[in-house]
Amino acid sequence: MSFSLTINGTTHRVNEAQAGTRLLDFLHDTANLTGTKRCCGIGICRACTVAVQKAGNGFTEPMIACSTPLALLKGARITTIEGVATGDRLSAIQQAFLDHFAFQCGYCTPGFVMASEVFLDWLKTASVTEAELDALIENAIGDHICRCTGYIRYYEALKAVSRKMLEAKA
Ligand code: FES
Ligand code: FES
Repeated sequence: MSFSLTINGTTHRVNEAQAGTRLLDFLHDTANLTGTKRCCGIGICRACTVAVQKAGNGFTEPMIACSTPLALLKGARITTIEGVATGDRLSAIQQAFLDHFAFQCGYCTPGFVMASEVFLDWLKTASVTEAELDALIENAIGDHICRCTGYIRYYEALKAVSRKMLEAKA
């Protein structure tokens, strides 16, 4: 039985033979979307993180594409790094990572961006105080590995965007 999933607003049909294919391979080899990076390939570094809203779920979650078979994504809406900017306009967190010089080689950056996008999307409606931000940010991106050790700057950038969002809600 074939099924469909949506990537950055485009619907893709997946046939039965592809059900065991990992999402990362499908993105690279079929959807021609190579911005999602393969690093460890075994679910540890989170470089391959994408945002997924599963069928029937009202929320979006970060998902590691290297370890997720398509069979788990029937009807899902997936956003990859290619779907974040609006034309030439970067998202708030993309711009903040640039402004904070958060990355060097940039290989881990798509994963940090996608996890941060999911976090910020959640933060829009969450009841959170500024004092809670550090722990929440740690939870959102603390498991991501950056071999260039940009951790602090990624944290600072995400905290700056998060604080602005909380201020705007106040
Ligand atoms: S490449 Fe997917 S977790 Fe490392
Ligand atoms: S910027 Fe190089 S791995 Fe993170």
